[in-house]
This record gives sequence, structure tokens and C-alpha cells, in this order.
Amino acid sequence: MPRKPDTTAITSGRGNSASLSGPTWGSTVWESENLEDARRRATTLRSQDFYARYANPTVTQFEDAVAQLEGAESALAFSSGMGAVASTVLALCSHGSHIVAQNNMYGATLSFLQGPCARLGIETTFVDATVPGALTQAIIPGRTTIVLTETPSNPLLTLTDLDEVGKISGPFTIVDSTLATPLGQQPLSHGVDLVLHSATKGIGGHNDALLGVIAGEKDLIDAIWAYSIMHGAVPSPHDALNALRGIRTLPVRVERQHNSLLEIARTLDNHPRVTRVHHPFLESHGQHALARKQMNFGGTLLSFEIDGDFSECARFVDALHLPHVATSFGGPETLICHPATSTHVGLLPEDLEKTGITQGLLRMSVGLENSEDIIEDVVGALNSLSS
Ligand SMILES: Cc1ncc(COP(=O)(O)O)c(C=O)c1O
Repeated sequence: MPRKPDTTAITSGRGNSASLSGPTWGSTVWESENLEDARRRATTLRSQDFYARYANPTVTQFEDAVAQLEGAESALAFSSGMGAVASTVLALCSHGSHIVAQNNMYGATLSFLQGPCARLGIETTFVDATVPGALTQAIIPGRTTIVLTETPSNPLLTLTDLDEVGKISGPFTIVDSTLATPLGQQPLSHGVDLVLHSATKGIGGHNDALLGVIAGEKDLIDAIWAYSIMHGAVPSPHDALNALRGIRTLPVRVERQHNSLLEIARTLDNHPRVTRVHHPFLESHGQHALARKQMNFGGTLLSFEIDGDFSECARFVDALHLPHVATSFGGPETLICHPATSTHVGLLPEDLEKTGITQGLLRMSVGLENSEDIIEDVVGALNSLSS
């Protein structure tokens, strides 16, 4: 009988060692018996005992854990989430390729598609993926190589219908599932080709591992691996071990953070200084039914708009005591940031406006503090704006 995901988070990625944690394989290189043996290692796919850019046993344990959690044949880790995005896109595309991507995504992913990819002759059509059929309609048969989506999206928490993405045939379909974590949703079970995470976020969960990972069918992952050893965005075993430790506690963290997030979102939704709260698990959200259909947990991120501009946001943030002003998410501490001037500062002003990242928008990553303390702090800071 298949195990439950919270058990898999504990049992997966154990490797062959009897130690319950680690070890961290720090070596960058392994010694061969002789030249024949060295040739075997150099020509073996994902060789475990050759050179650390090809594979590292600690990283492999982390990859195995993610593969099991995502219900995938295989997984491949990178030095960061952007390492995963860039390596995967460049592994699959060539000059003249076409990508369909949603217009509301993490800022650096958008900038990567608009900048380096465009410069290399890889063209992207950006669409509003909340509109049913929009992704499919933008596909150019024979030319579109990738359909790249992010659900929930950063920072507006819009959802893309995973069933719709899973039904697309022809291009490779990739879902950045960072905000959901592997426990929040399983894109591969909807028919998607590749699921991608910045494991720096919820998977690592402690703000001490910079890591990215993709999971999918073995042949596709192996092909991306063959490119990735030249691209070189390989992860550190130390970060992989920290992220593997994060996986062990992921189930308890996501459940607690989901519950706190809902309480905070509802409080914000009822406050007169808040004009809009973005989270699909709020009953009032336009995509609430879709969230219920394809997600188990809502992640740690929410965003909200206050009736004011940057300076009003700054006054609000200055009045907070508990949240740290920082851009990441998924860790134990509650964080707050202003996307237009931080995570999405690389976007053109017209693109910010088009995607709805206003000057009054704030993004919060709900931590593991007691939710009553977070709420008291947030409400106090909002009330102080009126004085
Ligand atoms: C949805 C999403 N994907 C990818 C990334 C990039 O991850 P990293 O910072 O680990 O490179 C981020 C970073 O915030 C993100 O939010």
C-alpha cells in the first residue's frame, strides 16, 4: 500500500548509510581503480563516484526524497531555484524555440525569459494563465518547446489549472510549484511533465539552504542532467543535507503555517485599511474552488494591498515588530516585503502595472510564531496608519 506523504517525508532519501542524518559528502572528486575504471565512471549516466559536478551522494539522497514526494521517477537538484529554471529552459530550448509562459510569476524567472532567453533567440509569449484555454491557445504547433507556469504564483497567488496544463501535448509542460511545496499539490499526477521548486523556500524551510530541484520521468531528467553538467549550476552537499532535514519536518510546518495563514488572511480581509487580500484559500477568492480541487495546503505566502503607495507601505512596515523585512519565504520567521521594489524590481513599470503588482502591494511569508502574536502585531500596525 502506498504510504502517506507525511510518512514519505520521513522515510525517503535515506541512501545506504545506517546513520539517520547525513553524511555530508564534501569531496569534489573520487579516485578510480585504474584508467579502465575511470573511463567507466566518466561515461556512466549520473555517475555517483566520479566528480561532484556529475553527482554527489548527499545530493542524490535529497533528489530521491523529492522524487518520492512528487511521485516522480527521478529528480535533479541545482544550486538555486533560478539554477533549476535556467538550466532546464536552456537544456530543452534552442535558437528559434518558442515558450509560452504565464505573465504573473517570480520576477527573476520573468526577467530571465525577457532578457537572456530573448537575446539567445528564444521567444516567449506571456499570457494570463488564469483565463481558461489561454496557455493552449498561445502554443505555436511545431515551434513551442515549453509551457512554463507557476502555481500559486509569486506574489499574487493566482492559480493555473493543473488539469489544463497536464492535457497539453507537444511542448514540455513545466510547473513551478515552489509556493505549494511537494505536500501542497502534485502537478505530475495531473499529467504535467516536470515539476520545479526553489527548495530554498518551504522544502529547505530554515533559510539556510540555497537549492533548486526538478522532478519527472527518468529519460527527461537524464537529458537535462547531460546539459546541467556543462551549465554547472550544481548544488552544494551542505545545502542538500539542510534541505533534506527540512523535508523531515515539512508536513508539520506546512499544516501549521497553512492554519496561521488563513487566520491572518481573514483578519486582513476584514480590516478597513486593506483593500484586497490575495490568497486562493480565502472563500471570497475567485479561484477558491480550483484551490480546493488541486491543492491540499495553501503554502506560507499571502499578499495584500493597503490603500496607499510605497510610503504608506513603509509606514506600515516600520510599525511592525515581529515580521522581518526580507524577500524569501517558507522559513520559521514571518517575513514581509514590497514586491514592486524588491522581488520584482527588475520588471518594467508597465509590466508591473499589467500584472497587478501595485505600489500598495505587500507580500507576507507566514512563519511558525503563534498566529495570535502575528495578528496582534499586524492589526496594531494597520491601525497606526490612521493616526
Ligand atoms: C516561485 C519561485 N521560483 C523560483 C525562485 C528562484 O529561487 P532561488 O531564489 O532559490 O533561486 C523563486 C525565488 O523566490 C520563486 O519564488
